[in-house]
Amino acid sequence: MYRCSMNITQTLVDEHVLILKGLEALRIARDKIERNRHPPKLFFEKAVPFFRNYADQYHHYKEEFLMFGFLARKKEGTLDLEIGALRHQHEKGRQFLTRLERSINGYGMENEIAVTTLLENLASFIAVLGRHIFREDNLFFPMVEQELSLDEKTTLFEQFQLEEQALRKKLPLANCFEQLEEMEKLVAMEFE
Ligand SMILES: [Fe+2]
Ligand SMILES: [Fe+2]
Repeated sequence: MYRCSMNITQTLVDEHVLILKGLEALRIARDKIERNRHPPKLFFEKAVPFFRNYADQYHHYKEEFLMFGFLARKKEGTLDLEIGALRHQHEKGRQFLTRLERSINGYGMENEIAVTTLLENLASFIAVLGRHIFREDNLFFPMVEQELSLDEKTTLFEQFQLEEQALRKKLPLANCFEQLEEMEKLVAMEFE
């Protein structure tokens, strides 16, 4: 039952794989917009809920409220700087996504100011989330694996499972996977 209890961060690394696929679609969109080849507005209307629901609410929630909280209590302040930086990056991502969302309608009408706003928040979102995931996968998660005992990992794993059950009711994962597929299709489309 506790298959992951030896490696509590594996679930999070697996979720990063999907988030990175979404980021790749965003990179393609950014490169196209730089060359004035605009992906359809619908691409961004799928991308915003995918990143808000899957990356932020489903994934970041477990990191921030369960794992970071657990570690902060256990390490009594020694990890505050690193955890604070990771939280800050989550928060910056939320801000970029909200600003990007506000410019989608103007982007659809080819308003150049809105296109610029969308592009700047898109580029910032990709850069910050890309670095964030790299640091979690390569620096932070390996450290977490070393710091936590098997008992602690089991406790945290149980908390993850409870939270996932509740979150899946609110945010069906099938919708998130569909949004990602749609994004990949829409960004590949070419218009003359
Ligand atoms: Fe994170
Ligand atoms: Fe993460």
